Amino acid sequence: MSDILGYAGKRVIISGCFSGMGEAAAKLLIELGAEVHGFDYKDSTLPLASFTQVDLRDPASIESGVASVGGKIDALFNCAGLPNGSFDPLDVMKVNFIGTRHLTETVLPLMGEGGAIASIASTGGLGWSRRIPTNMEFVTTKGWQAAMDWCMANIDTVAEGYSFSKEAVIVWTQYMGAHLIKQGIRINCTLPCPTQTPMMADFVKNSGKEVIEAATQPMGRYSTPYEQAAPLVWLNSAFATIVNGVVLPVDGGFMGGIPTGQVDLSRMMRKAQ
Ligand SMILES: NC(=O)c1ccc[n+]([C@@H]2O[C@H](COP(=O)([O-])OP(=O)(O)OC[C@H]3O[C@@H](n4cnc5c(N)ncnc54)[C@H](O)[C@@H]3O)[C@@H](O)[C@H]2O)c1
Repeated sequence: MSDILGYAGKRVIISGCFSGMGEAAAKLLIELGAEVHGFDYKDSTLPLASFTQVDLRDPASIESGVASVGGKIDALFNCAGLPNGSFDPLDVMKVNFIGTRHLTETVLPLMGEGGAIASIASTGGLGWSRRIPTNMEFVTTKGWQAAMDWCMANIDTVAEGYSFSKEAVIVWTQYMGAHLIKQGIRINCTLPCPTQTPMMADFVKNSGKEVIEAATQPMGRYSTPYEQAAPLVWLNSAFATIVNGVVLPVDGGFMGGIPTGQVDLSRMMRKAQ
């Protein structure tokens, strides 16, 4: 296969490789000739270069996982996540942002110029633009404990954890994009629409089918894990070397439909009223 995306022989780390978008991205990267090192708290059966059991709720587990891979890392895919409503909000904060940030900060010293990071946020984090100062205060906390302390002191803002953690990924990505590019490293994130992965059962249970269906507007269907994995793979590829600090909707037109009045947001609010 020709190597137009530039992954042949590249060393990549991917969190959340057990299922869903992370598993799909790992499979694509293996097909593209990358040396894929997978992290998850659940065992993976994929033909990875290495698999390490890493729990993103535990900084020591993250550090030993990265140390076990070692060497130069060309790309990081932050795909692990927990949904809303089924888990302790602080665990959601840890996996979706605090642990994801810690993994990124642990990998960064192993990255050189040309390195790239892609994370999965969510349309669930759309509220970020309403409270940028709050999000900035949180994402610029230094280290694991400071982030946990902030959450504990602002537990009402954290709420169920999902929306706020995804806002944090969005604001942190844009903030870090301006910093890391000075070292020649890019960082971007995606905003998936509802996607048919194991997490979907939790979303439907906790948000209600009506709200999830409304979030599939205007396309009217769920996306597949591969439809989410391919843009992540592209973002970290040699075909996107000028794309940085971007929050990329991967949503069949949902985001574009909001300002142009093509998406009925009241359908998503109805349950909450
Ligand atoms: N499915 C959707 O509709 C949807 C929509 C928007 C955003 N997302 C986001 O996409 C990302 C991927 O989710 P998915 O839909 O593929 O679901 P998924 O449940 O299939 O994947 C999540 C992965 O994260 C791993 N994980 C969870 N907790 C972990 C921990 N403590 N340590 C290490 N790994 C852990 C899981 O084992 C799993 O492999 C998540 O961040 C999710 O919030 C999903």
